[in-house]
Amino acid sequence: MNSDTYIVDSVIRSRKAVRMFRPDAVSKQDVIDILDVARTAPSNGNTQPWRVHVLAGSVKQRLSDALARAHSDGTHPQLQYMPDPLPDSYRLRQEDFGSRYYGALGIDKADVDGRNRATGRNFDFFGAPIGMIFTIDARLRKYSWLDYGLFIQNIMIAARSRGLDTCPQVSFARYQEVIAQQLEVEAGHEVVCGMSLGYADEEAVVNRLELPREPLVHFARFAGLDA
Ligand SMILES: Cc1cc2nc3c(=O)[nH]c(=O)nc-3n(C[C@H](O)[C@H](O)[C@H](O)COP(=O)(O)O)c2cc1C
Repeated sequence: MNSDTYIVDSVIRSRKAVRMFRPDAVSKQDVIDILDVARTAPSNGNTQPWRVHVLAGSVKQRLSDALARAHSDGTHPQLQYMPDPLPDSYRLRQEDFGSRYYGALGIDKADVDGRNRATGRNFDFFGAPIGMIFTIDARLRKYSWLDYGLFIQNIMIAARSRGLDTCPQVSFARYQEVIAQQLEVEAGHEVVCGMSLGYADEEAVVNRLELPREPLVHFARFAGLDA
């Protein structure tokens, strides 16, 4: 049986990172409903480590402007998102992503300014009407970040089932202080990531990207199961 026979499977498969949104508004009730279902995510000891700032209109624009300034002045230290060197298997997939993404945008691999400008589009939430910033108590450990991932995936799936699209964005984590200055981030919290939420611009070439996944045999080992 094709797994898309199951409605949740087909919603999960329909999710992709969208990087160009239509300006059409998203209703506040939709956002509330999405977060309300997302909060049913499991968490270790039911600790529920998520805190989210939901932004729209002038508040979102102020944050975007401050981040654009910080990004273009170029003085913020780079955040080391991944180990350097990145082990080969991960590096190859990351490079494959880079060539597909920048290729779709028509940006040459060697064009550092062009790539930097493309990264800067993150801070405008790719034109989405809703931006979200997720924070976590910095005292919590990596296991709580695992909880966080489940919550964030729930948001993206609940958004899809309402015809909405998302892009999860770790790029925001580089600008912790800028975000803390603009939003009322709880004391002792750090930014996990941001997210754009809205209706995809289906015409945009960048939204036609289909990132491949490794086949199951590359990451799963079965033992002791019947055929
Ligand atoms: C934790 C996390 C952080 C991400 N950060 C960014 C980001 O800052 N900017 C961006 O354009 N995409 C970001 N992405 C999207 C990934 O590039 C994307 O999920 C991946 O390439 C697979 O593509 P797909 O989601 O369209 O299948 C992020 C994804 C995750 C899960």
